[in-house]
Amino acid sequence: MQQEALQEIHSATTLDALQTVKTKYVGKSGLITKELGSLGKLPPEERRARGAEINAVRSALDAALKEREDTLKRAALDARLASEAIDVTLPGLQLPSGGLHLISRILNDLEGIYERMGYTVIEGQEVEDDAYNFDALNIPWYHPARDLWDTFWLEDGRLLRTHTSPMQVRYMLEHSAPLKIVVPGKVYRYEATDATHESMFHQLEGLVVGDNISMADLKGTIAEMARGLFGASAKVRFQPSYYPFTEPGADFSVWWENPRGESKWLELGGCGMVHQNVFKAVDDLREAAGKERIYEGKTGFAFGLGPERIAMLKYGIPDIRYFYANDLRVLEQFRGEL
Ligand code: PHE
Repeated sequence: MQQEALQEIHSATTLDALQTVKTKYVGKSGLITKELGSLGKLPPEERRARGAEINAVRSALDAALKEREDTLKRAALDARLASEAIDVTLPGLQLPSGGLHLISRILNDLEGIYERMGYTVIEGQEVEDDAYNFDALNIPWYHPARDLWDTFWLEDGRLLRTHTSPMQVRYMLEHSAPLKIVVPGKVYRYEATDATHESMFHQLEGLVVGDNISMADLKGTIAEMARGLFGASAKVRFQPSYYPFTEPGADFSVWWENPRGESKWLELGGCGMVHQNVFKAVDDLREAAGKERIYEGKTGFAFGLGPERIAMLKYGIPDIRYFYANDLRVLEQFRGEL
């Protein structure tokens, strides 16, 4: 019987089939159980030896059943793992990755150029008071030059800054000369939009104040920036212009050959020597705040330029509105190396 039972155990290929074999031999009314029950009918002298024999068979069967059960369970688990496994050969999902906006990258480049010249990069607030956006910059309320900057006025009398120049004043209130700063940021103009006008765009403001700062320093600085942006052969040109907060004031252009072989002067921004009225206004504000008057008699220059213009000219982008329409077909063209 033992041989036969072991044979059946080994040929059971499923846990169910094994259970059937188990019941047949060692179940409540199984063959082994019956054999043990019939021991009582034997003469006492045979009972002991027969009992030991049956128990030995039973332990052999128990061990074989246990081993077969383990084997079948493991096989079932292996089969399940195999059927549910991840197919690592399938192509993965390509997640879209973001990137810096072209204008952020141009501002980063500009900041790098100025940091290498020893400038400190600072940022300012977009909601301004007209005291900083206009008055202290030598543009009193009655001055017609206020019309140069079409302004978004807020209901509380404040405004969205029309240029980054108010940070000249804010910085001088808190710091003393000599100083060299650039201020990147957003500015706002209440204007009809078209291919070259947006109601929000960016500027990079520069301010240098010290002793004996001259127009030559300004020109050298702008030329250095142009070489950093457009390469060693870039040339710059200055033309007289008017800004209430500079004297003299100028606009500057860069001569640049684009990848399509066209070269032209491109006007990048305004600049000039800081007007003494600006230094005086700063000293007045400092005095009102209980600080020393330290700016009258100083010299300095300032400049302001638009990174959107640089991007449009450098990459042949025909319409400023493309930058902020969030059309990925446009934005995705400016990834990786520029
Ligand atoms: N703030 C001027 C503008 O927005 C640019 C400028 C800055 C000009 C500094 C001169 C000096 O047009």
